[in-house]
Amino acid sequence: MAERPASSARPVEFDLPVHGGFAPVGIGETFPDDTPDADELEIAGEPGQDPAAAFRRTLGMFATGVTVITTQDGEQVHGMTANAFMSVSLRPPLVVISVDRRAKMHALLHEGRRYGISVLADEQRSLSDRFAGRATEGTEEVGFDLVHDTPLVRGALAHLVAKVVRSNWGGDHSLFVGQVEYARYGEGRPLLFQGGRYRHLLERAPVFSSLPPEILAVITAEGVERTFEPGEFVVREGEPGDELFVIIEGEARVEREGNALSTFGEGEFFGEIAVIDGRPRSADVVAVSPLRALAISRDLVRSTVEREPRAAWAMLEVLAGRLRDD
Ligand SMILES: Cc1cc2nc3c(=O)[nH]c(=O)nc-3n(C[C@H](O)[C@H](O)[C@H](O)COP(=O)(O)O)c2cc1C
Repeated sequence: MAERPASSARPVEFDLPVHGGFAPVGIGETFPDDTPDADELEIAGEPGQDPAAAFRRTLGMFATGVTVITTQDGEQVHGMTANAFMSVSLRPPLVVISVDRRAKMHALLHEGRRYGISVLADEQRSLSDRFAGRATEGTEEVGFDLVHDTPLVRGALAHLVAKVVRSNWGGDHSLFVGQVEYARYGEGRPLLFQGGRYRHLLERAPVFSSLPPEILAVITAEGVERTFEPGEFVVREGEPGDELFVIIEGEARVEREGNALSTFGEGEFFGEIAVIDGRPRSADVVAVSPLRALAISRDLVRSTVEREPRAAWAMLEVLAGRLRDD
């Protein structure tokens, strides 16, 4: 039986010769001639449709996040928006990006070169446009942090630095497999891309905190103050979502299967959706520090909305705003 390489050993295929060096055309081990002809692609659906456009649309059905790939060439920082980013392996830690052979980024990447991946947050859409060479409204300055000699976009949801260990031919794109040297993640909502458009994740959409203050004051007026010790569960996954909480003092962490998802601080609300639809909690919330929170029951929210039609209308306005896709 073949001996299993030690986990630190390079996989054997890394020692295979790579034909064609790293020239833009035909990099990696497969040459363009070996690949199927574009005519062999069968496009189902409307007859007469442009096959290239239909193929693009088909691929575009797959929802992704959005990243900015960065690299430093001398003093010059270069960034490119990419959604063709994928995790490959945990041990060794590998990722891959697919870069258009016509992109400037393509000419900058080669074996041994590092690239940064910044996973964009929902509010960084203009950065995505900017690094895709699209016109943007503002001329907002982009901040970079240098990690392992690699620029990373400030404010991104997650960062990785990878060193190119292998590049492969990918038709009009090239695949750059990178060994990850640095990883960091934060909290927040990611920017999404699907069907050729940006999309937004609605998972933690605030409702009550977006209400006008005078309406919020009516809803919170009869709330009951509760205190929790550090480590104590405020709500547990699966329990009925019959209360909404506003933090008066301290911090609470949202956890799912032991993984921290986000943290709430003073003045922030949680349990907003469950208190309206009454469905079970989708995550645990645990007090991080001594916590004082105002608990508002589902019955109290309902009776307030029935008494104050303005509150109902304000909530509908907030929900309509969430569904707007811009
Ligand atoms: C959401 C989005 C995703 C993109 N994903 C990729 C990608 O994965 N690979 C790629 O080569 N280009 C991708 N592009 C296009 C490049 O960002 C664009 O061609 C850019 O101008 C190339 O920059 P450069 O030539 O300065 O390196 C994407 C653009 C957008 C808006």
